[in-house]
Formats: sequence, C-alpha cells, structure tokens
Amino acid sequence: MWIFLAGFVVLVCAADATPVLGRTFPDFGKMYHVKGVLSLPHSKIEEPFEAWYDLDGNRSRIDYRNSTVRTFQIGNDLDFGAIYKITPVIPPSVIRCFQLKGTKDDPIEPQQAIPDAQSFEFEKMEDCKDAQCEVWKKVTEAGHKKNTYRLWVTRGEAAYSPATPHRFEMEGFNSLLGSHNDKYSIEYSDFCTQSEPDVFTPPAGFTCEEFPDPPEEHQILANPFQDYVNTHPVSHAHRMFGPFKEKFNRQYESEKEHEERENLFLHTFRFVHSNNRAGLTYSVGINHFADKTKEELARMTGGLLPKKEEDAK
Ligand SMILES: *[C@@H]1O[C@H](CO)[C@@H](O)[C@H](O)[C@H]1NC(C)=O
Ligand SMILES: *[C@@H]1O[C@H](CO)[C@@H](O)[C@H](O)[C@H]1NC(C)=O
Repeated sequence: MWIFLAGFVVLVCAADATPVLGRTFPDFGKMYHVKGVLSLPHSKIEEPFEAWYDLDGNRSRIDYRNSTVRTFQIGNDLDFGAIYKITPVIPPSVIRCFQLKGTKDDPIEPQQAIPDAQSFEFEKMEDCKDAQCEVWKKVTEAGHKKNTYRLWVTRGEAAYSPATPHRFEMEGFNSLLGSHNDKYSIEYSDFCTQSEPDVFTPPAGFTCEEFPDPPEEHQILANPFQDYVNTHPVSHAHRMFGPFKEKFNRQYESEKEHEERENLFLHTFRFVHSNNRAGLTYSVGINHFADKTKEELARMTGGLLPKKEEDAK
C-alpha cells in the first residue's frame, strides 16, 4: 500500500505525460519481428504464429501454423490498402489467395501482434523467464462483461531501448453468470526490432478473389489477430452472434441464457476459425450446433458428437 502511495505521488508530479509511476509505457518500436503461440484454453488449442510489423512502411504480415496460412496487411496498396490471405482450401487441396480491400471509412492499416500498451497501467513486477517482468494491466467493461488484460514485458538497459514482450493474457468475467467464462493468452518469443523488407510482398502468381460470404466475417478471415490483440470488450466474433441468431432463428428465454449462448458461440467461433487456419483435411463451419453445450449435443446426436469443441461452459 505504501509503495503504491509513493508511486502515486510520482504520477501526480510527473510533468510529462509518458511516465506512469516513474515508468514509461512499454513501446515495441516501429519495426519488429516476433514469434509466438496463441492459446485458447477453452478449446485446448495452441496456435503458433509469426509476425512482422513495419509502421513506417505501413504494412505488416502475420503467418499462422508454420506459415500454413499467410496474411499481408498492406496500407499503401490500391486506394485504401488491402489485405491478402494465402491459404489452403480443402477440398480440393489447393492454395488460394483472398483479398479484402480497404475502404474510405475502413482503410487497411498494419496489424500489431502485440497490444498497444498506451491505455494500460503498471501493476507490479513479477518473475518471468529468468527475468523480472513489468506487468501492465487494463480492465474494460461492457454490459455484463468485464475483461482484464495483462501484458508482461522486460526492458533493455538503455533508457529508450524498446521493450520486449513475453506474455499477453485476457481473462473475461461475466457478472450476470458470475463466472470467468473467457480466457486466452499469447506467449511471445524471438522478439527482434528488425524485419527483412522482402517478407511483406505477397507471393506472385495468384489471382486473388473476394472472401466467401457472409460479409460480416471478412474482417476476421482477413486479419484474425485483431480480435485477440485489440482490447475492445466487444470483438468482431461477438458481433457475429447477431447474424447467427437471425440465421438460425434463435430466441432465448432470458438474458442469462443469452449470455451463456453467446459465450458458447464465441468459443466455437474461435475454434472453427483456428482449425481452418491449420489447413486440416476437414472443414468445419459455423452451424446450428454453435451455441449448444456438450450435454445438449450428446442428447441431440445420441452420443455421437459432431467435431466441435465444447469444454467451455
Ligand atoms: C514447422 O516447420 C519447421 C521447419 O520447416 C519444422 O521443423 C517443424 O516441425 C514444423 N512444426 C509444425 C508444428 O509443423
Ligand atoms: C496507411 O494506409 C492507409 C490505407 O491506405 C492510409 O489510410 C494511411 O494514411 C496510411 N498511413 C501512412 C502513415 O501512410
């Protein structure tokens, strides 16, 4: 408590906006290359990725699952930027290119693989990976959802050297359900503040087509990482729940059931998208099972579970 109060005085006295409790916000620089693993514990999924970021060049690239799927976010392309996704499509087993064009209202910008810590607050120091990490925290609330985000970083010796990210974690609490019903994390490794320029050029020889319907899904298909790195309580995946309810004519009995179904849907949605990035030999789609519990599925299918995650409740 005393330490906190002492720190608070520093905050009040700080003349410049950047130092918070005597610390500057972690800044990862204008250019970097990083690897990592995205974990979705509800679905028992661990998805490796590799990312390149170049702010001055207005571009980024994020590869998933050992570059099975490659995505290029190029701001200085066409009128308002474009995203290219090179991905296997099964069946038939071919590599295809999909393109999402930016618009005046929604221009394409480079995608960060690490959250922007400007809106985070310093929480504490903690042991991590043979070092002392700074833990930065942010809490958002929307409706019944309260999300807590934490970012673990270390610093170089020099005063202005960029921070190194180690871990990012989101934990969601739903006050109506009274439970922690959402969680994911990203473990970072091999962070480096340089990036070879040629990695940003999408491979030649493809004719790129538009993403398949529905249009609401295009953003998530083109740039899956934004939902995980943005600290916005209502993600693109949450916004897919409306069209889902409409398509399958869902009317829930109570607000509580609505929250439960939405949460089940969210986990299924992430699971399906992550699996599709693995280029597996089967294709799973969002079907009418998406908002069902494991028990309901067992009853509906006489014990023969469709391929689907349902560990989350
Ligand atoms: C990813 O690729 C590397 C090098 O090509 C290979 O050694 C590794 O086993 C691959 N990992 C997976 C999970 O496929
Ligand atoms: C990056 O590209 C987007 C989309 O074309 C554009 O709106 C933005 O102004 C560009 N930013 C810079 C710094 O060039």
